[in-house]
Amino acid sequence: MARKIAILGGTGAEGSGLAYRLAKAGEHILIGSREASRAQETAGLLRERIGGSAQIQGLDNPSAAAACDIAVLTVPFSGVVVLLKQLKSVWKQGTIVIDTTVPLAASVGGAATRMLGVWQGSAAEQTRELLPASVSLAATFQNLSAESLSADTPVDCDVLVCSDDEKAKQVASELVTKIPGARAFNGGKLENARIVESLTALLIGLNIRYKVHGAGIRFTGLST
Ligand SMILES: NC(=O)c1ccc[n+]([C@@H]2O[C@H](COP(=O)([O-])OP(=O)(O)OC[C@H]3O[C@@H](n4cnc5c(N)ncnc54)[C@H](OP(=O)(O)O)[C@@H]3O)[C@@H](O)[C@H]2O)c1
Repeated sequence: MARKIAILGGTGAEGSGLAYRLAKAGEHILIGSREASRAQETAGLLRERIGGSAQIQGLDNPSAAAACDIAVLTVPFSGVVVLLKQLKSVWKQGTIVIDTTVPLAASVGGAATRMLGVWQGSAAEQTRELLPASVSLAATFQNLSAESLSADTPVDCDVLVCSDDEKAKQVASELVTKIPGARAFNGGKLENARIVESLTALLIGLNIRYKVHGAGIRFTGLST
């Protein structure tokens, strides 16, 4: 049976962009939402946009998390703790969680160009604490803008993947390469997510100063 990828918070900008790209690449997507009806609406719009045999369903977050093999976390940082506590007993053993969240001050009403201090060091390390040990975690996609994901052109961004789990890192990297234009790079341990997350605040500042929407990063001197 084909694997299922849940996008928790998939009704939002980043989640629906990732769902669009991954469904277009042939993945079976479960959009998750706090309200199943919102998830179904987003799933319907994406199916219509992609056409053909796109496999996209809408469910509430716990149902999507329970049914998936891979879950991508795309809710604002301010909602992560409550959501992951709700999901604690729901995960199947061996599920891989991919965290895209960035602790931007904007998620609690502050500036989008500033980071919040997170006791654990990063949003990803906080997520690790809130997942059962039987679930593995990789952090990636933090620097890939929703604007770029929702377009039909290749994205212009390299994507760092950080994890302490080799399988999770490999699966997350493989998903990155399903998005045209995106190159996946091994970002090292999960603790490096604190560096990657903070780059997003910098990119948002560049978007503002240069009046663009999809500033990204590219590395030189590395081949994939
Ligand atoms: N936007 C970007 O360009 C971008 C780029 C890289 C990374 N990210 C990261 O991706 C995540 C989502 O960003 P976004 O811009 O897509 O955010 P968003 O559109 O504001 O929110 C995404 C979805 O999360 C759900 N949500 C909102 N508040 C919630 C809460 N308190 N608890 C649980 N769920 C909640 C909502 O879905 P329902 O109401 O349907 O539940 C919403 O549609 C963030 O952590 C962000 O840092 C975003």
